[in-house]
Amino acid sequence: MLLDKMRKKFLLGNWKMNKTVAEAKEFANEAKSLGDIAKKNNIDLGVCAPFIDLIDVKNIVGDSLIVGAQNCHYLEKGAFTGEISCEMLKEIGINLSIIGHSERREYDNETSTKCNLKIKALLKNEMTPVYCCGESLKTYEEGKTKDFVKTQIVEGFKDLTKLDAEKVVIAYEPIWAIGTGKSASKEIAEDMCKFIRNIIKDLYDEDASNNIRILYGGSVKPNNIAEYLSQPDVDGALVGGASLKVDSYKELLTNLL
Ligand code: 13P
Repeated sequence: MLLDKMRKKFLLGNWKMNKTVAEAKEFANEAKSLGDIAKKNNIDLGVCAPFIDLIDVKNIVGDSLIVGAQNCHYLEKGAFTGEISCEMLKEIGINLSIIGHSERREYDNETSTKCNLKIKALLKNEMTPVYCCGESLKTYEEGKTKDFVKTQIVEGFKDLTKLDAEKVVIAYEPIWAIGTGKSASKEIAEDMCKFIRNIIKDLYDEDASNNIRILYGGSVKPNNIAEYLSQPDVDGALVGGASLKVDSYKELLTNLL
């Protein structure tokens, strides 16, 4: 089941390569009650866990939290050692995956063209892609951010129909703000999310640009999350470090209420 087609606030944790199964289970047991608070306040709340943690986390939290993967392959099966398909994820109740995170683009050669195939594979399986984009410090300092991000969006959305495009969640994550504690200002976050929304308008129409959800990510913490979410074009946050401990994950949520 895809996420609701509406611009509900969205708080999504990305654990990256953190948490053994035991640690993930402990988190899931402590965090599952947060799902009620989120639902009552019309917020989508979730975590993207390492593959090995997914079954246990999903079994513990059920539908109270969204449980997502951090990557998937675009083919159904085959000789792709070390890969996991959308079909495999779907079978264990996982309906969302991050695609094109900058760490995968940097260390695993993930291109926007490949991301486009993954987005299509997820949509075909009625799953939600969370498509990441964002520029390096060098690109930012050269003033080329918008051209760079526009290319990522155009290539990532290639040949998607409007109906499909609206189901994608975009996460703008400037690389210079990831894990650095040097978060983008709320003005930069808004400017970029608005810019991306306008690209969607140019590619599709106003309706699509109004419907699509765009998150900001990069050193989001309990003390700055509300600032970002107060911006009209920022619909949520993709959070790394601050989503790892239940206390801080809970604080992120309560600071959004
Ligand atoms: P941090 O919140 O640790 O900066 O990570 C952001 C991120 O990469 C989320 O995908």
